[in-house]
Amino acid sequence: MAESGFESDPRIESVLLDAAAIRARIREMAQAIAGDLSGHDEITLLGVLKGAFVFMSDLGRELREAGGPSVRFEFVRAKTYGAAIKGTGETERTVSVDWLGADLAGKDVVLVEDILDQGFTLAHIRELLLTEVGVKSVRICVLLDKQLDCPTPAVRALRETLPVDYHGFRVPDRWVAGYGLDVAEEFRELPCVIVVRESCFLSD
Ligand code: IMP
Ligand code: MG
Repeated sequence: MAESGFESDPRIESVLLDAAAIRARIREMAQAIAGDLSGHDEITLLGVLKGAFVFMSDLGRELREAGGPSVRFEFVRAKTYGAAIKGTGETERTVSVDWLGADLAGKDVVLVEDILDQGFTLAHIRELLLTEVGVKSVRICVLLDKQLDCPTPAVRALRETLPVDYHGFRVPDRWVAGYGLDVAEEFRELPCVIVVRESCFLSD
């Protein structure tokens, strides 16, 4: 896959999804969203920063191509406290949310996230949208859906109850980066999704 010379970077194990595959899948996702929400005049894409910014800009443009409703863009900043790369056996993580002035009350919201991992971030934001912000509706759209090898019972239960309406790709339980996703703030600008060699980033 000749994306550029970055495959020679020892911190990159492999290219998981190339730019063409990502583009094609996002087009399909946009068509599905446009079809489901065809009765709406306007929808609000609510991107979770930082990771979702690349995905959301492409998804928004594909929604227009697909003849979907008019799109508003808002962002929320979520910080999930814990190690840079998750540990094993986690049962909860503290998520702090900054709405960045987003105008969301009464809106039909599509929550746009780069990756669903243990589910803490999306579950927390969704709950706040429904209970505190007072949105009209919320759907969840994730580009990557991580298939967890051995989730704790708490994580398994969370994942099973989280309603994900749209997902792009299932990915293995590895740390991935590129296309907006980072490892230690690196690789967000890559056009593809790569598997990170975790040993290069684990601090002991
Ligand atoms: P969750 O709350 O465990 O679902 O974690 C989701 C958040 O952790 C995502 O919004 C990402 O920011 C980050 N994250 C989880 N897995 C990865 C990964 O493999 N690469 C980059 N970021 C990730
Ligand atoms: Mg994120």
